[in-house]
Amino acid sequence: MPTLSPPAGCRTIALGKTVRGMCTGGLLGALNQVQEQSNGHIGQLWLGPFRPLVVSHPDHLDHILRRNSGNYTRGTALWKALRRLTGNGITGDGAPWRVSRDIIQSGLSARCLQEMGDPMLTAMTSAVEDLGRRAVRESSVDSLVEMQRIVHRVINPVFFGSRIPQMQCDRLGTAVSTALRGAMRRMAVPFVPLAVPLPGDRSFRRGRNTVFEILGPVIERARNRPCDGADLMTRMLNGTHPDGRPLSAEHIMYDVIALFFAGSETSAATLNWVWLLLGRHPEVAAEVGREADRVLAGGPPRREHVRRLTYTHMVISEVMRLYPLAWMLGRTAIGDDVIDGTPIPAGTTLALSPFLTHRLPQFWNRPLEFEPGRFTREAIRARHPLAYLPFGDGAHSCVGQAFFTQEATLVVATMMNRYDVTVLNDGPPRFTWTMNPCERVRLRLRPRG
Ligand code: HEM
Repeated sequence: MPTLSPPAGCRTIALGKTVRGMCTGGLLGALNQVQEQSNGHIGQLWLGPFRPLVVSHPDHLDHILRRNSGNYTRGTALWKALRRLTGNGITGDGAPWRVSRDIIQSGLSARCLQEMGDPMLTAMTSAVEDLGRRAVRESSVDSLVEMQRIVHRVINPVFFGSRIPQMQCDRLGTAVSTALRGAMRRMAVPFVPLAVPLPGDRSFRRGRNTVFEILGPVIERARNRPCDGADLMTRMLNGTHPDGRPLSAEHIMYDVIALFFAGSETSAATLNWVWLLLGRHPEVAAEVGREADRVLAGGPPRREHVRRLTYTHMVISEVMRLYPLAWMLGRTAIGDDVIDGTPIPAGTTLALSPFLTHRLPQFWNRPLEFEPGRFTREAIRARHPLAYLPFGDGAHSCVGQAFFTQEATLVVATMMNRYDVTVLNDGPPRFTWTMNPCERVRLRLRPRG
């Protein structure tokens, strides 16, 4: 193991030990060790020559994401691998990011979600009905695959104005996941030059080529004719830089890929966790079912149901506490800084970890237990505002939070209201370094009488 003095006040954690409750060690495994050993202090990961500082304490996060956020950009180290797929627009920093964020954020504002509400709900309801029809014929279905299908149907009108046939949208989803998984392998070793082949490179290229093949012609066609609509792709096609220049086809393409990844992978994977945990906690599932019956009462889901599905929302929040899909956020210090006694020299890479924060015993009683009751309004108010950040915080915080909440709450309630859902897996949940369950989650759905 190469030696290096860690900054004063910081605990050093080397990679390598297997971690309880997880299939693999990997980057997430190493972070778990930081949790065990540093207990909220700033830690340091040793990944060969790459040694990011690991931050999980809410006060430290507050410093980086809010109080001194100007000193912390996304930088390159942890983002380099992802940006080969998503470019420098919405997943970047500076002026191109600002342009993308303004366009996407306005497209996901409450008013726009209201405008898009009907096509979204129609797509969601028919996707759930299709799932029900298929599930009746089969003894069980794969939860992740089905949640991806539903999410792709919901996002098609919102992201693409339904320009992409549904089958192509599913193919796009598979290609983005393939490319992403390939790219993520490089995240743990950003010091390895791209010219050096790594496992995952081939699937990255295959996935990325398919993505370009599907999206390229759609964007090109749409750019050649004026378009009108509230969907995100139309907004990007009509969007401009502050000097009036339109966004380039490449900028739009990368942002669409980033959105697809940010808005569909995360949502489907979180819904998959919801089913797994409801299967483990029948009393919670029963309460979710009762709430769905009370609020939906067998009728079609509507937007105004969301704020009445309070318990379902608490359950989803608790799922995201235990299994936050964005389990690590990369930042780089521009200038020298000191956080709680730990010197942070300019150029340092920081791995902020919502996964660790959500399991700090100082902020969460029995942190490994699944307890939706932590998310009553009073409990949220009483907690440190940065003890819970599945959607990030500060300038880059998730612009899709309201969209996801609406989508996920209504999907769960509609399914519970229409079907008896049985989760066929048992045993304690174990998860991989991509924050997915180790085993496929199988569901049996039977129409309610
Ligand atoms: C379970 C669902 C989701 C989770 C866990 C999640 C999580 C996050 C997190 C942690 C960030 C902050 C990244 C950072 O600080 O570097 C983020 C950013 C972002 N999310 Fe989400 N997200 C989810 C759903 C969505 C959806 C549905 C959309 C789109 C409709 C979306 C679009 C975005 C975008 C565009 C950004 C980049 C914002 C920026 O850099 O300014 N997300 N998301």
